[in-house]
Amino acid sequence: MSNIKFYYGEKVPLEMHKVRIVQKLNLVPIERRLEAITEAGNNTFLLKNRDVFLDMLTDSGVNAMSDQQLAAMMVADDSYAGSETFSRLENKITEIFGKKYFLPAHQGRACENILSQAFVTPGSIVPMNYHFTTTKAHIVLNGGTVEEIVIDEGLNIDSAHPFKGNSDIEKLKAVIEKYGSEKIAFLRLEAGTNLIGGQPFSLENMREVSTICRQNGIMVVLDASLLADNLYFIKVREEKCENMSIREITREISDLSDIIYFSARKLGCVRGGVICLDNEEWYQKMREFLPLYEGFLTYGGMSVREMEAMVVGLDETMDENMISQGPLFIEYMADELKKKGVPVVTPAGGLGCHLNAMTFLPHIPQTQYPAGALAAALYIVSGIRGMERGTMSEQRDENGIEPLSDMELLRLAMPRRVFTLSQVKYAVDRIGWLYENRELVDGLRFVEEPKVLRFFFGRLAPVSDWQSKLVAKFKSDFADSL
Ligand code: F0G
Repeated sequence: MSNIKFYYGEKVPLEMHKVRIVQKLNLVPIERRLEAITEAGNNTFLLKNRDVFLDMLTDSGVNAMSDQQLAAMMVADDSYAGSETFSRLENKITEIFGKKYFLPAHQGRACENILSQAFVTPGSIVPMNYHFTTTKAHIVLNGGTVEEIVIDEGLNIDSAHPFKGNSDIEKLKAVIEKYGSEKIAFLRLEAGTNLIGGQPFSLENMREVSTICRQNGIMVVLDASLLADNLYFIKVREEKCENMSIREITREISDLSDIIYFSARKLGCVRGGVICLDNEEWYQKMREFLPLYEGFLTYGGMSVREMEAMVVGLDETMDENMISQGPLFIEYMADELKKKGVPVVTPAGGLGCHLNAMTFLPHIPQTQYPAGALAAALYIVSGIRGMERGTMSEQRDENGIEPLSDMELLRLAMPRRVFTLSQVKYAVDRIGWLYENRELVDGLRFVEEPKVLRFFFGRLAPVSDWQSKLVAKFKSDFADSL
C-alpha cells in the first residue's frame, strides 16, 4: 500500500485497487449454521459455500484477479503442444527468477510429487525451516524423513521476532553432522512459512543457509508459494534491504536457490504450479514425470488461460502496492483482536490472521483438537470459515500414534484483494464475542478418520452438547441479528 497518512492519525490499510466485479454473499441464520457444521462432520473443509459468509479457509486459488489478468486470458493459445502461452510464461519466469528451465504442473503439491520422486529415496533426510502438510506427505511417501530446523523463536507464538521463519544455523550444521550430506536429498526453504503463521525468513538468513549448503554440496529447494508476503516483509523489516527493489530481492533469493517451485494458486493469483531451475541434469530427471502425472510439457495440467493470467500475475507481484495489501489487512485484524485480549500469533505474518487456540481454549486437551473446535465454534457464531492448523492437520505415524502439533492455530486466511475492511471488522466483532464466551466451547473427536491428510475429509463430533448451548447464548445476546 502506498505511503498515505491519515490526518487524524488512524492506521488504516488503504486499498490501492477498486472493485469492479462482485460476488453476492449470504449469511444464513445461526440455526442453519449449526445444522451445516453438523452435516459437515465439524470439518470446515466439508462445508458448502452456500452456507459460508466470509470464506477465510485459504488464500489458495481464491485471490482476486486483476482486470489485466482477465484480459490476458482472452489471448491464450490453446494448442496442445508448443503454445505461445507457454513461451510467454517461460520468458516471464526467466525474467523474474533468472532460471533457465521451467516445468509446468497442475498445482504446488504436484511439484512436490515430482521433486520427491526425483530426489527422495528410502532413508533420505530433508531439512526444512518448517514442513507443510502436502510436502511432508510426499517426502514420507518416498521413504524420506523431515528434519525441522526453524529457529526456536518460530514456535513462540507471542514473539516479536521479525523473521520467525528463519533457519537455525546450528540445527542445520547438526543435521549435516549427524547424517552426512550424502543422505540429505535437498534442503527445503519455505517462504512465508505456512503452518507457523505465515512467518517470513530474512534474506541474510537465506544467504547463510545457502552458503552452508553449497559448501556441503546440498541442493537448496525454495517453496515460493508464499513468496509475495515474504518479499514484502524483507522490504519493510530488513533494514539492509530497504533500498532494494522487490525485483532485486526476488532475484537474489532465486540466485541463492537451486530449484524453485510454487503453487500458483497463491503466487500469481491463478491456479497452477511451477518448477524452475538451471541444472540441466535435474531438469531432465524431473521432466520424465511430467507426461505421466501432469500433461504435455507446455501445459503440465494447467489451463492455458490460467497460464496467461499467471504471466500478468507474476509481474503484478513485483509491485509493492499489490503485495502489501494482504499483510497490512492481516496486521490490522491482529491488532484489533489484540486490543480485545484475543490471543493471536505475533508478529502478524502473511497468508492470514492466526488465532492461538491453545490459549483461547486452554480447557480443551490437544487430543480433542482445540483449533478444530474453535473453527467449528467460529463458523456457528459468524458464518466465517477458517482452517484448523494443529493436531488435526497432523497424521498418525506407522504405529498409529497421533503426534501432537507444536501449535494449535485457527487460520483465518486473507485472500488478496477479496475482503473489505468492514468485513474484517465483522470478523473481529464475532471473534471478540466468542472469546468472551470461550468457556462454552468444548472439544471434538474423530468419527471417520482417513489415514492420509485426514484433515481434508475426516468427520468429527462434539464431545458434549456444547454447540447447542453456544447457539442459545448467541441468541440471547444478539436477539434477531444474524
Ligand atoms: N507449499 C505451501 C507453502 C503451501 O501453502 C501449499 C498449499 C502448497 C505447497 C501446496 O500447493 O495447494 O497448489 O497443491 N497451501 C494451501 C493452503 C493448500 O491452504 O495453505 P497446492
